[in-house]
Amino acid sequence: MFDVHVIFTRQLSTENRKLVLMNNQLFRSDTLSAESIKEGLQTSCFGQEVLYLPATSSTNRVAKEAAHKGMQEGTLIITNQQTEGRGRFDRTWWSSPGKDLLFSLIFRPPLKASQTFRLTLLSSLAVAEAIRQETGLDALIKWPNDVYIKGKKVSGILSESGIHNEHLEYMIVGIGINVNSTPSRNPEIEERATSISMESGKNFPRITLLTVILELIESYYRGIQKGDFHSLKKRWDTLSLINHKKVMVETQGCMHEGTAESIDEDGFLVLLDHTGTKRRFVSGDVSLSLL
Ligand code: BTN
Repeated sequence: MFDVHVIFTRQLSTENRKLVLMNNQLFRSDTLSAESIKEGLQTSCFGQEVLYLPATSSTNRVAKEAAHKGMQEGTLIITNQQTEGRGRFDRTWWSSPGKDLLFSLIFRPPLKASQTFRLTLLSSLAVAEAIRQETGLDALIKWPNDVYIKGKKVSGILSESGIHNEHLEYMIVGIGINVNSTPSRNPEIEERATSISMESGKNFPRITLLTVILELIESYYRGIQKGDFHSLKKRWDTLSLINHKKVMVETQGCMHEGTAESIDEDGFLVLLDHTGTKRRFVSGDVSLSLL
């Protein structure tokens, strides 16, 4: 199914670049490196500084250390293999060496700590839109920060903030996307996880997807910096998996059932329960399942 041949090298723009044949289509080589990622990337900030690590414990961990040392906004920390990948609630993030996208971005946003959910929101939107655009798959966003295809999770986002004297110094957005792995081979996640290749039946070049994600993130980030959160939220709403659906929300051991109305301007989930009461939930403490 996943036939990849390096067929030739030719002069493209100013550099020698390998082309690979995947699924009868020509793609740039999918070998991760700082150069291959930056090539052709149309951003001015995100991904212009790249820290590529062939293997590492967790890109979020490395990104936090780098941010702490003053590394600039937009720095991309990316790996081919993550040995201690972490998810929300300290869960393990499973991935397959050399097959998935595992990266973290440093933001230094002029936002209040209470508004940092906006970065998670714009990142999940960028991931879902990039998958839709590049693969044609019906990727949807499950609040607060997961991307799903046909009811299974294909991507997760772990955002972590660095706050000093009540001031937000940096924010790390860590993104994991199952691209060419086969989560169905892992009994622990087979029922709830999927990958782009499993859904499309094709292998997919990671760098192509990454490029689109970085470009979308930059453009949405510029939008919210100019004060336009509204159009971002509108786009997010159109791709929300949960809006107007019955859901169960678990927070601090309590279960709440109701209909998800949307998210509000502060990123809270608004849930309408059977008595007609509206409740708001902040993303940090909540785990959500569709009924
Ligand atoms: C979740 O769904 O719980 C979030 C998963 C986030 C995983 C990514 S992979 C890159 C980055 N490094 C990590 O250790 N975690 C994030």
